[in-house]
Amino acid sequence: MSEQQLSSEQIDVLLSAAVAAPSMHNTQPWRFEVNGHVIDVFLDGSRSLPAEDPTGRAMRIAAGAATFNLRCAAASMDYGTGFGLVPDAADPDLVARIVIEPAAEPDPVLKGLFEQIPRRHTSREAVRPVELSTADRMALIQAALAEGADLTWLPAPKVQEVLGLLVDTDLREIGDWHRRAERAHWVGGARTADGVPSSVLGPRSAVYPSPVRDLGTRPADQTRPRTFFEAEPALAVLSTEADSAADQLAAGLALERILLTATRAGLKASFLNQPLEFDDLRRVVQRVTGKPGYTHMVIRFGHSSVKGTTPRRPVSTFVHSGTEES
Ligand SMILES: Cc1cc2nc3c(=O)[nH]c(=O)nc-3n(C[C@H](O)[C@H](O)[C@H](O)COP(=O)(O)O)c2cc1C
Repeated sequence: MSEQQLSSEQIDVLLSAAVAAPSMHNTQPWRFEVNGHVIDVFLDGSRSLPAEDPTGRAMRIAAGAATFNLRCAAASMDYGTGFGLVPDAADPDLVARIVIEPAAEPDPVLKGLFEQIPRRHTSREAVRPVELSTADRMALIQAALAEGADLTWLPAPKVQEVLGLLVDTDLREIGDWHRRAERAHWVGGARTADGVPSSVLGPRSAVYPSPVRDLGTRPADQTRPRTFFEAEPALAVLSTEADSAADQLAAGLALERILLTATRAGLKASFLNQPLEFDDLRRVVQRVTGKPGYTHMVIRFGHSSVKGTTPRRPVSTFVHSGTEES
């Protein structure tokens, strides 16, 4: 192998880390091109969610999270990285370019977070009744800031305001068969490549509104057992100052740094994003934080050891490599 090229084993480690990132409904809406030490991250328009994510914001967040994992994987090989978001204005699908720099010092924080990538999972289960520590809350705020985003912890009355918005979103969704059909396409059943399998939907809630989003739409998923989730969930809102494509990608980088930091602290996360899928309610959520900006994720954190994995497509289906093996 030339020193200028990444080996196929290295490319596999890098891209396996990238595709382990979270994506809405596990659509895995990305593809990659590897040329020498440069990895380009593209959106895969064939995996969009036109009803629930008409502007592609969730796709860009997912691609940002995959980009963060690529940086961690490079650090695990003792390589530094440089990266740019939306590097070519003429190609909006090219959302990030990462340059692997073998001569540069790896970032020790990213190197440490690499180990958390396979341990991170969205958990829609009940959590243990243990308060989050101030140190954990602070570490997650710092993780957001490190990627240019903002994480705001909501005090109890504000949590109730956000839970109240879930009723509004449910009312809007009842008559919207486009949204329900799209979700039924991606969620439920036994899955081996993409989408959200029934096995990770978690229990249904015994009270309404629930602090855990019930993604189940298929009849078989509507008879899952019920449980009592925590009455006062630990909710935090991830925002950026502006809302350009680059801001949405940065939100994805911040999301993954937050989630891996939380995983390291023994925390699990799930998402209450349904109000963000309506522009007016998204603005209300941001107003609830008391800060200017644009909300990207509403994240519920808690202590839990329940594991639940979602499948991924094989790495080979995502990549075009310009690197020649020797
Ligand atoms: C932008 C975005 C929005 C998401 N919205 C929700 C949501 O509202 N509710 C939910 O339960 N999960 C949500 N998820 C989590 C995905 O369903 C999850 O990442 C995907 O199924 C893959 O599973 P994993 O996170 O366990 O790897 C979201 C993820 C992303 C990146």
